[in-house]
Parts: sequence; structure tokens; C-alpha cells
Amino acid sequence: MNKKTITDIDIKGKRVIVRVDFNVPLDEKLNITDDSRIRGALSTIQYLIKNGAKVILMSHLGRPEGKVKDEMRLTPVAKRLGELLGKEVKKADDCVGDDIAKAVSAMEPSDVLLLENLRFHKEETMNDPGFARQLASYAEIFVNDAFGTCHRAHASTEGITKYLPSVAGFLVSKEIEYFEKATRNPDKPYVAILGGAKVSDKIEVITSLMEKVDAILIGGAMAYTFLKSEGIDIGNSKLEPDKIGLAKEILSKARSKNVRILLPNDHVISDKIDAGASTEIVEHNIPEGKIGLDIGPKTVKKFEEILKDAKTIIWNGPVGFFELKPFSKGTEELARFLADSNATTIIGGGDTAAAIYELNLNTRMSHISTGGGASLEYLEGKILPGIAALNDK
Ligand code: 3PG
Repeated sequence: MNKKTITDIDIKGKRVIVRVDFNVPLDEKLNITDDSRIRGALSTIQYLIKNGAKVILMSHLGRPEGKVKDEMRLTPVAKRLGELLGKEVKKADDCVGDDIAKAVSAMEPSDVLLLENLRFHKEETMNDPGFARQLASYAEIFVNDAFGTCHRAHASTEGITKYLPSVAGFLVSKEIEYFEKATRNPDKPYVAILGGAKVSDKIEVITSLMEKVDAILIGGAMAYTFLKSEGIDIGNSKLEPDKIGLAKEILSKARSKNVRILLPNDHVISDKIDAGASTEIVEHNIPEGKIGLDIGPKTVKKFEEILKDAKTIIWNGPVGFFELKPFSKGTEELARFLADSNATTIIGGGDTAAAIYELNLNTRMSHISTGGGASLEYLEGKILPGIAALNDK
């Protein structure tokens, strides 16, 4: 990686402001339901504490659109972080202003202060220079460890780098390492599994991956638009009618490039999307009135046949309606297959990562990204502004 990291810079005793991505899911009682993003930033925070830095953390949570929303305060995050660090984490009521300046000047080495949700100020997402300068004024060094937000050019990810020496934290470095290898120099055969709801969300990634991978395995709701473009009956399965032409184009382009694109040839179907729904398995065409909600056992086998020889596997998007038990089997079986594989396995963030954690297979994957949108943009070959803005080595 050609970007500086926290080990390339003297942080001892310095005031260090760290952008983290603590955009964690909360239930209605404001309990954190998945703390993997907080855990992901721990090694950077612990390193800074150990080296006597004054650690100022900042993050967004949700999309409050420039307004203070009590349910999007970072209070539960500060509590959870304190438990994980075994140390007090002070939590500020805002992220800029005189009180922040005072709180920072009262900090001792190794203290940790978490600023309030950055997006309570609209200037954050507007990448306002004045707001970025205020954030920068509290510190001597900026560390970006918010991989999940690196695809956003916001004040706390991009703007701030204009005012402070700016380096990557351990999480961002690790994510870059895996994605750079996968996008530039992957061990072959290289296979991508793509799922999720919409073809439109994945067009750019499919087009970009086609230049690099040996095979793309398509599942999830978006598979039905592809199947339809091949003249297969999909019953009442999810369809993006305006994307049929595009799906056809993608398939013929792949054929001309000798990239195998595999679509499901059997399906778990039902007449409703419900946890108690009864299901059946059909091959090829889906009857009228039925919805395809997961890949069937023959497709799982067909996908595994390709995956067994792969040296690099990248996975973005569950291959079925994983949230509901009757339609979770395809995703679960592929996840177990990957867990036993010797290939480098890279799991995109978001829903796919959530599925892997739910199955308790997280320690058996090479890398689970903390970024949903960010990992997708990386694979699309885009330059992530939060990374590009960091100082070169
Ligand atoms: C994410 O959850 O993908 C990141 O935290 C970015 O959030 P955003 O899509 O609201 O910018």
C-alpha cells in the first residue's frame, strides 16, 4: 500500500483525531445488535492508547440529515466501546464548538473522547471546508479508520486531510490490502459470487469484475432478471423489467470474453415471503403465482463445483432471502463451503457480512469487510476519496 499508516508517524503524546465508522445497527431500545464495526476499530484505538496519544474519535450514525436526532446519538456506542476497551470513554454532546475545544484541552495521554454524531451538522456531508477545519483544529494528526465511509467525500473523511497530516488506521490498511490484491493481482482461478436484490446495484461491479475473474456466480433476487433475459419463466419473482436488455448484454459480453456467468437452474419457491411459508423446489421455469426466493440444491452443487478449484473468492450479496429461515439454505451452504475452502475468501460488508456473523463463520473467512457500499465501489474499480486523500508513503 502506498499510503502512510499510523506506524509511519510519531503519535506519542499527540492529539490524534480518528474517523471511525461506528454506524452500527440499533434496535428500538437503542441496543447495538451488531458491534463488529466497533470491534473492527479496536486495534487502532488500542495502539493509540498504548502509545499515550490523546484519542479523539468521530463517527456518523444513520442519516439524520443535519438535524439532532436523539435516537441517533452515539451514547450506546461510547458505552459499548468502553466495555470493549475496559476503560472510560468520554462522550461529548456535539462534535464541534467551544465545549469540544475545552474537553480536548483537558485530555490526558491515553484518554479517549468520542464526539457526537457528525451528521447532526449538514456541513459534514457537504464537505464544508470550515467544518473540516474546526474538526482538524482539535488535533495534530488525522487517522482514517472508517473503511465503511471511505467512499464518501465528507468533511471528516476527505475535507479534514487538507489541514492535518493524514494516515490510515489498521482497519483501513487491512481492507486496502485485501481489496488491492483482489483487484490487481488475485490468485487464480478467481470466482465472484454476487447476490442481492437489484441488478442495477451490481451492474458496475459485474462489468468491472468481468475483466478480472474466471467465473461469476449469480444468485439472489437479481438472478431472476437475468433468467428472464434468457427466456426463462420466473413466475412472480422479483423482476426489473427495464434491466432485461442490460442483463442480456452482460451475459453476451461475458460469453465473448470467456468469463463464465452461472445462473441458478433450480429454485426454492413459495407463494409468499413469510417466515412460516411452505416451500417447494423447481427446476428451470418458475410457475405463475410462485416467487423464487433462494437457489436450489442443484445450483448449490453447481456453484460448489466451480468454487472448489478457486484460489480467490469474493462474495457480495446473499443468494436468497437469507433473513427468513425457509429461504436461507443456499446462502448458508455456500458460506459453509467457503469456510472450509483453502482459497482467499473475501466477504463484502452489509448483508453478506451479517449472514456470515449470524452463522458464526466469521473466523473462518480470510477477510470480512466492514464496508458495504465502500467494498462494492472498490470492486467497481473506483477510487475511494477517503483513501485517495491520505498522505502517500
Ligand atoms: C455504511 O453503513 O455503508 C456506511 O456507514 C456509510 O453510510 P452511508 O451510506 O449513510 O454514507
